[in-house]
Amino acid sequence: MMFLTAVGALCAVCGGLALVLVVADRYLNNYGSCRITINGERVLEVPGGSSLLSLLSSQRIFIPSACGGSGSCGLCKVRVTAGGGTVLATEEPHLSTLEIRDGIRLACQLKVRADLAIDIPKALFAIREYRAVLSEMTPLTHDIRLLRLELIDPETIDFVPGAYVQLQAPVYEGSPASVYRAYSIASDPRDRRHLDLIIRRVPKGICTTWVFDHLKVGDRVTFNGPHGDFRIAATDAEMIFIAGGSGMAPFRSILSEMRQAQSPRRVRYFFGAVSRRDMFYLEEMKEFERALPDFRFIPALSKPAPEDAWAGDVGLITDVVGRHYPDCTGREAYLCGSPGMIDACVRVLTAHGMPADKVHFDKFA
Ligand SMILES: Cc1cc2nc3c(=O)[nH]c(=O)nc-3n(C[C@H](O)[C@H](O)[C@H](O)COP(=O)(O)OP(=O)(O)OC[C@H]3O[C@@H](n4cnc5c(N)ncnc54)[C@H](O)[C@@H]3O)c2cc1C
Ligand code: FES
Repeated sequence: MMFLTAVGALCAVCGGLALVLVVADRYLNNYGSCRITINGERVLEVPGGSSLLSLLSSQRIFIPSACGGSGSCGLCKVRVTAGGGTVLATEEPHLSTLEIRDGIRLACQLKVRADLAIDIPKALFAIREYRAVLSEMTPLTHDIRLLRLELIDPETIDFVPGAYVQLQAPVYEGSPASVYRAYSIASDPRDRRHLDLIIRRVPKGICTTWVFDHLKVGDRVTFNGPHGDFRIAATDAEMIFIAGGSGMAPFRSILSEMRQAQSPRRVRYFFGAVSRRDMFYLEEMKEFERALPDFRFIPALSKPAPEDAWAGDVGLITDVVGRHYPDCTGREAYLCGSPGMIDACVRVLTAHGMPADKVHFDKFA
């Protein structure tokens, strides 16, 4: 008991000290104006003291970030060539030894307190901020919704199927700061005036609580993009798509483009859900089967309810894929969904003969 009280007291002291340091850093340290030199050619004059990620975004340069700057997604990597100081403990789990040696840092963790030089891919300059109106919101399951956004400014967007955008959830009751979260584009790239997103509610999640409990048709929304390099490779190889839940999003966009191009590529799409109430787009996928020369949708339930009267595949999606593909050589795979599902599928596919470099994925975390 005494030990627990001592540990509690120590934690309280440490927490208090950390708070004092944050407040002191925020209000006492004046870092003045700092210069960020980008790719040796563009110089930004910014007030010091904030994260590199937020300072770049205030200058309309949008670095990929799926966790809103909390240091958990590891997507906001930039190369710092001068002035970055040492790598922080919060960055280390996301950086390999090679990356650290090469000056790679997490832009959300790096506070700009002095002049800095960074290198970023030129493609990031093409990423823009968009304003749109929510024109439709349709329930797809009990916890998944389709959002249709009509673009206002700019009025059109170009993207490669597989790309994602960063949707901004504004301040709302219970969420004191605005955050960005990544959502894959689910619509046909030819419809340049609209974007579809498929969003699953995460209990107590900041952005999804806003989407499900506060956002209404007719509301204005802000997002930036397009981001990401998840896309199908330009080969003739047979493709295995695997998804669960809102991981459906990029495949709906990819299939729309394949239908338009009348792609002859052989595709087998495995979609996993727990029971029938978690399954959606069965009819839409049948339409893709009719419209595409060699496409098959294979939905599978891991725990069908007795009333589901399910005649399709049953089992974990990994087992279902393994049953259909005892030999994966010569194929490519594209995976989208939770990190757990993706890691398990990668293990199955590689164990069944698919080289790791033929497995492409977007982890929704
Ligand atoms: C490239 C990319 C594309 C994505 N595309 C989509 C998409 O098309 N549709 C979609 O619905 N989501 C997608 N996501 C996930 C999305 O960005 C958010 O992480 C998710 O919506 C939760 O955000 P939140 O603010 O509601 O929850 P947060 O406030 O970020 O999280 C709340 C809590 O839930 C946990 N949590 C976070 N995400 C999940 C999860 N998926 N399942 C269970 N627990 C979770 C967190 O660890 C935290 O404890 C994508 C993510 C990435 C990286
Ligand atoms: S924004 Fe997610 S780790 Fe930096």
